Amino acid sequence: MPRKRQKSQPSRIERTHENVAGDQQPIVENTGKTEAVAATPAAEENLNIQKSNVTAYDRHPTIFSTVSLMLKAMEHPRILSFGCSTGEEPLTLAEKYFPTARVVGVDVSEPALAKAMELTAKEPRISIRRSTRETLTREGPFDAIFAMSVLCRWPAALGRDDISDLYPFARFCENVDLLDRVLKPGGLLVIYNANYEFLHTPCAIGYDLIATRGARQAGHIDRFRPDGKSAGPSAIVNNANACVYRKHLPGDAPTLGLRILDTNLARIAEIPRGIPFMT
Ligand SMILES: C[S@@+](CC[C@H](N)C(=O)[O-])C[C@H]1O[C@@H](n2cnc3c(N)ncnc32)[C@H](O)[C@@H]1O
Repeated sequence: MPRKRQKSQPSRIERTHENVAGDQQPIVENTGKTEAVAATPAAEENLNIQKSNVTAYDRHPTIFSTVSLMLKAMEHPRILSFGCSTGEEPLTLAEKYFPTARVVGVDVSEPALAKAMELTAKEPRISIRRSTRETLTREGPFDAIFAMSVLCRWPAALGRDDISDLYPFARFCENVDLLDRVLKPGGLLVIYNANYEFLHTPCAIGYDLIATRGARQAGHIDRFRPDGKSAGPSAIVNNANACVYRKHLPGDAPTLGLRILDTNLARIAEIPRGIPFMT
């Protein structure tokens, strides 16, 4: 799917940006091309997960609206776009859904980061950073984290019976654990288009599911069981779209099962943990 560009995008990068190491990015000409850009070898050694950079402006309006509604009482929420690619997602979040928020976009692809900095240059509430554990710790904690189409290998996983060599579940758990560490108690974690189920990870025990109706599934890419074997399409829990999770607050009532809440945090249901796959 081609990336859509913002009408107001400047034709050239007009200023330099500080990257995580504090270096200055050189001024680069914007070619206006929309092809996918590759991650650097150095980043791949590090923690590169998804290699495709495909993105678009306002790609998930139902999910973005749900989270925006839930954070509307917050004066200046801190939002993380994990895997921000060329910047359309953080720009969408800052412009359309979180008008007073500070939005941090992180990615591992240097070409994508350069484009993201260019695209978001006009919005001072957005920072673009290289994704590292240190960056996330320094920039957090966050009130909401969007991990959309990043905790996966697409299209490499397409049609595979087993992805344990490509993207092992243990690695997914590590990725999720890092996001959990930089999310505030009571914060919202959005995981969309992942190859594994968040609810199968150990840290899911500390989360409730928010029912976000309207979007049918938590993504369209192939799903796998913790042993890496193919599991069919993503799950629908109690007719809710299983992709927005709320981290427990210390004062939350303990629960053995998975609590499903509406966007006002009213309890809709409680079901056994460990979700069935739709096959
Ligand atoms: C398909 S794009 C998704 C962009 C956007 N989130 C969306 O949904 O439109 C996936 C992005 O995740 C980035 N990525 C891969 N591993 C990452 C990591 N460990 N931390 C941050 N970004 C990563 C890739 O470089 C790529 O730009």
